Amino acid sequence: MSVFPVILSQEKFIHRDSLKFPLEERALQFGDGIYEVIRIYNGTYYLFDEHIDRLFRSTEAIKIKLSHSKEEIKNLLLELLERNNMAENGKVYMQISRGSAPRDHVFPTNVEPNIYAYVQAVPRNLVTLKNGVGVITHRDIRWENCYIKSLNLLPNVMAKQEAKEQGCYEAILHKDGVVTECSSSNVYLVKDGKIYTHPTTRNILHGCVRMAIERFVTDLNIPLIEEPFMLDDIANADELFLSSSTSEITPIITVDGSPVKDGMPGEITRKLQAAYEKDANIIENLIANA
Ligand SMILES: Cc1ncc(COP(=O)(O)O)c(C=O)c1O
Repeated sequence: MSVFPVILSQEKFIHRDSLKFPLEERALQFGDGIYEVIRIYNGTYYLFDEHIDRLFRSTEAIKIKLSHSKEEIKNLLLELLERNNMAENGKVYMQISRGSAPRDHVFPTNVEPNIYAYVQAVPRNLVTLKNGVGVITHRDIRWENCYIKSLNLLPNVMAKQEAKEQGCYEAILHKDGVVTECSSSNVYLVKDGKIYTHPTTRNILHGCVRMAIERFVTDLNIPLIEEPFMLDDIANADELFLSSSTSEITPIITVDGSPVKDGMPGEITRKLQAAYEKDANIIENLIANA
């Protein structure tokens, strides 16, 4: 798999091995920063504006003052692809922290945010997209501002690890039985031809793939009801699926070891996967080849 050696550091393009962080860096010491992950198909960013808008919502929410405009950040990310001759499927990770300063909880003054971004090759996971995945359920013990794409991911990391240890792909998070989202994706339940998912409150991340799904359902004439569903509703669900930039739209076929309906990916999930592939101009087509 290709390695892309050029990374973005502040406004410079440097070799990935030459990135150095000072000892006192606020992302390292406080998780005081935010990030974005943007999917790339055949060397082109997918849902680029949605991600850049969310990046700015996150920096504003935690009062990081960026001296760049959205257009400038986009241009830097586009140049990153060019400099790496990136023409395949992958993703970019971009991180912005409050900056480097002597350790103190209070915001430092006159400090520039630290920005970096790098590109990775990521093939589409055709096996999980076609066959679906198993998930566990897990208490959502995160803070009250999950709409911010913050670097503080410890509860998400713990939940995902628990899923992995139980041979599963993801963890569905719930607060007292109310399903919020997954550890690194949004989650949806289908019942009687309607899709249910948690409203975009402060308790979940408004996923960029979810924003795309909100468009697809209008074209497909499928009702999307932004009401939370309960863990107890899963036993009677027709379909369950999750969405994220890395996982696209992935069918969920078991929850805590029990099959969802007949344990097969459902019809509405398949329609949304097809809409996704069309929207992202994906060349190798999962649905056509299924
Ligand atoms: C907690 C959480 N929810 C939802 C998502 C999905 O967001 P997106 O569709 O923008 O990738 C992610 C993505 O990483 C996430 O970490």
